[in-house]
Amino acid sequence: MAAQILDGKVMSEKLRREIGERVLCLKREYGVVPGLAVILVGNDPASEIYVRNKEKGCLEAGMHSETVRMPAETQQEDLEREIDRLNRDPRIHGILVQLPLPEHLDEAAALARILPEKDVDGFHLLNAGKLMTGGEGVIPCTPRGALYMIQQTGVDLTGKEAVVIGRSNIVGKPMAMLLLRENCTVTLCHSRTKQLAEHTRRADILVAAVGRAGFVTADMVKPGAIVIDVGINRVDGKVRGDVDFDAVCGVASWITPVPGGVGKMTITMLLQNTLEAAERTARRG
Ligand code: GUN
Repeated sequence: MAAQILDGKVMSEKLRREIGERVLCLKREYGVVPGLAVILVGNDPASEIYVRNKEKGCLEAGMHSETVRMPAETQQEDLEREIDRLNRDPRIHGILVQLPLPEHLDEAAALARILPEKDVDGFHLLNAGKLMTGGEGVIPCTPRGALYMIQQTGVDLTGKEAVVIGRSNIVGKPMAMLLLRENCTVTLCHSRTKQLAEHTRRADILVAAVGRAGFVTADMVKPGAIVIDVGINRVDGKVRGDVDFDAVCGVASWITPVPGGVGKMTITMLLQNTLEAAERTARRG
């Protein structure tokens, strides 16, 4: 039987309606409009698309959106001055520095400069540390969206074998931590993992964040698994995931498509993180 589809578009639309309603409440009760600032250094075409989608998402949800475009040759001190300005701006509740930054810039130092309470990416060391230690911090958007989709299956995650392929700070590591928090037994695989398929074939939940089109084939998947495809790869002008979707559909019980899967959820979770940051600020008074 073919796997059931976890539809990121449908889930995002529902969540964005709820976010829009909470934005209205915040305006009514506190006169606060959630604000997101995105800093884009240089003109990477993929980043340009993400940034435009973020602006559109904010406006549709009734949020304030600000994009700071800086030239590719921007110096570290100028980038940090801009972050400091946004840290002080009371209309801005979330700050996102679009990655990757040009090579000459210090990414870790830039991320550390963002106030942890405005770090809607969840990349600040304090938020990463809270995720690791069980505190209530900001959760990175893509893994948060992926976990939400897994939860929509209604499957009890406790004691399940979860395998994540990819160990990036943006997806793989936080995803592994989130699944651990849900009481899964987690294996984190990566480019140096030996006998990868032996790990993936044990997975009740398989998350692919590899960056290679069609990397996960049907023989790597346990029958009945939940398969979450985080990949966004451009092949001959088309967007393809890390999973061989057509073949894996015949093996998995649930699967996310690409496009229309996890990617749709990332910006939705960014809006959610921005809304929650604004709500915390408003309630603190
Ligand atoms: N580049 C690719 N994904 C992301 C993300 O989630 N956040 C930021 N800041 N940059 C990215």
